[in-house]
Amino acid sequence: MLQIYYKSIANGLIWGEIFWLSLNIQYFKDMERKTALITGATSGIGEACARKFAAGGYSLILNGRNLEKLETMKKAFESSGTDTLTLAFDVRERDAAEKAIASLEGKWKDIDVLVNNAGLVIGVDKEFEGDLDEWRIMLDTNIWGLLTMTRLVVPGMVRRGKGHIINLGSIAGDAAYPGGSVYCATKAAVKALSDGLRIDLVDTPVKVTNIKPGMVETNFSVVRFRGDRAKADAVYKGLEPLTGDDIADVAYYAATAPGRVQIAEVLIMPTNQATGTISYRK
Ligand SMILES: NC(=O)c1ccc[n+]([C@@H]2O[C@H](COP(=O)([O-])OP(=O)(O)OC[C@H]3O[C@@H](n4cnc5c(N)ncnc54)[C@H](OP(=O)(O)O)[C@@H]3O)[C@@H](O)[C@H]2O)c1
Repeated sequence: MLQIYYKSIANGLIWGEIFWLSLNIQYFKDMERKTALITGATSGIGEACARKFAAGGYSLILNGRNLEKLETMKKAFESSGTDTLTLAFDVRERDAAEKAIASLEGKWKDIDVLVNNAGLVIGVDKEFEGDLDEWRIMLDTNIWGLLTMTRLVVPGMVRRGKGHIINLGSIAGDAAYPGGSVYCATKAAVKALSDGLRIDLVDTPVKVTNIKPGMVETNFSVVRFRGDRAKADAVYKGLEPLTGDDIADVAYYAATAPGRVQIAEVLIMPTNQATGTISYRK
């Protein structure tokens, strides 16, 4: 009888220990788990980055304007074990961005990686002929939106002594091309903002990467041609463009490189593209 009594106490202790151990493992797992905030996560490169960082064990904060798509993504990621938070706002709206970042609680405040991806091009107009309103949208999204997010998120990274800002620049930022004047200017600004931020953070462990893709087949050209799918498809005709996943691989590599390694800038093109204007098509 006494033996059974001792045995049940021993069993209880073992189960108790297993319980505590599993709680601790969960606690350390949560401590280890990093968080990536991706702007413009509802399409193309942003969506591919979300998949890549989720597969690498990151929790996700997904920004976008398409509420339905954000919810669908959240459900899909959560069902495969990725903690996901959605922040629906337009990166051009400073108040909305400030409110969204201020609303983050608990672990969600500790953003490890900010992927400044939201961006667009509209039209192929000459600089003396295009639509000022469309250009304003590009300037506000590609420059102001990126700068707003940087200003709101980076101070926390500096305080915590860790973090990484990954900006989506473009080959378009290296040299202007016909019909790309304003878009090219916005991406040249992304390069200057990335370089400037890297200088400002040089005495911290926070890293800055500017990824400059050439042709990537996403919804980008559909937006450029104001919804004209045939014109968008023609952009990639006769060559194999990059995919959003190719860019996400680069972003993830940069984010997970050893602490001493800062991938400052990456120019990535399809094999049959040589510059912003020279490519080979079959
Ligand atoms: N595709 C290329 O060839 C290429 C090459 C070089 C660089 N890039 C850069 O890569 C980035 C991603 O482009 P992508 O190719 O993935 O194009 P995409 O498929 O059109 O995706 C762009 C994403 O940005 C979002 N977005 C646009 N304006 C926004 C705003 N004001 N607030 C919040 N989200 C906004 C879009 O959301 P909505 O659906 O709501 O508009 C969409 O989710 C851009 O910065 C682009 O300039 C692309």
